[in-house]
Amino acid sequence: MDQRVSVVTGGGSGIGLAVARLLAEQGPVVVADRDVSALEGAETPGLVAFAMDVQETGDWRRLVAMLRERFGVVHNVVHNAGIAPIAPLIDSDDEAFDRAWRTNVRSILVGTRELWDLLVAGRGSVVNVASVAGLVGQDASAAYVASKGAVIALTRALAIELAPSGVRVNCVSPGTTLTPLLERHFDSIPDGAAARDHLTRRHLLGRLLTPDDVAPTIVHLLSPDAAAGMTGGNYVVDGGLTASFDYGNSFAGGAS
Ligand SMILES: NC(=O)c1ccc[n+]([C@@H]2O[C@H](COP(=O)([O-])OP(=O)(O)OC[C@H]3O[C@@H](n4cnc5c(N)ncnc54)[C@H](O)[C@@H]3O)[C@@H](O)[C@H]2O)c1
Repeated sequence: MDQRVSVVTGGGSGIGLAVARLLAEQGPVVVADRDVSALEGAETPGLVAFAMDVQETGDWRRLVAMLRERFGVVHNVVHNAGIAPIAPLIDSDDEAFDRAWRTNVRSILVGTRELWDLLVAGRGSVVNVASVAGLVGQDASAAYVASKGAVIALTRALAIELAPSGVRVNCVSPGTTLTPLLERHFDSIPDGAAARDHLTRRHLLGRLLTPDDVAPTIVHLLSPDAAAGMTGGNYVVDGGLTASFDYGNSFAGGAS
């Protein structure tokens, strides 16, 4: 297969890093992250660290200038960088709302606009990382829930705009995935161990997901062969979390 050029935002950790490692089998992978220190330590062959803040349009333009000069084309873009601010609405300030919007949503709009020519040149593909929180509600997370719902919606809109240029745009919504983001969350709440046990039980597979559970679906959607017919979709990788409501024992032993 010809070499394919990839960009993964937030590729320095968690789900993004797992995706970047898989994509490195196809060609150079630019890992665009505000914290590339993990990557510099890991020295994974094929990964090119690029320090940037996805909230900043100027940083996207620096990235595009580098990509244009070094590769002249982009085939795979994964908008994965995200933050998950947790706080009751009543305790959330405007700055927290703006940061969630700029990091999780606006970055995809700006980044896709700036990468447009390079993506069209490669007849490339985009995958946005949303969340099950874009599909069902989540406590103390209104800004996050709103941002992930927006990611699913904007995926459809971008798929419409880019289809005439041969570029596909899809979305993946992971369930609870064991990454540094999730570990920080469990550490930050009063009974993280109980929350972890509860969430583990709520996933039908009886375990939380790992980045390696999620990354192959993202890579599949990027494939110009395997996923040639897929655009505008949202693909849930959640271990069955959203497949069922928690009925407790409402049906156990019943025979009516
Ligand atoms: N972990 C989960 O349970 C879970 C579930 C559903 C969706 N997601 C989504 O998956 C994506 C990846 O999450 P993760 O759990 O791997 O998180 P993570 O914190 O382990 O990794 C996120 C990466 O994004 C980078 N990043 C954050 N803000 C940035 C910015 N402004 N500019 C550049 N880089 C930035 C961080 O430095 C980090 O390397 C996020 O969009 C998250 O919302 C995660």
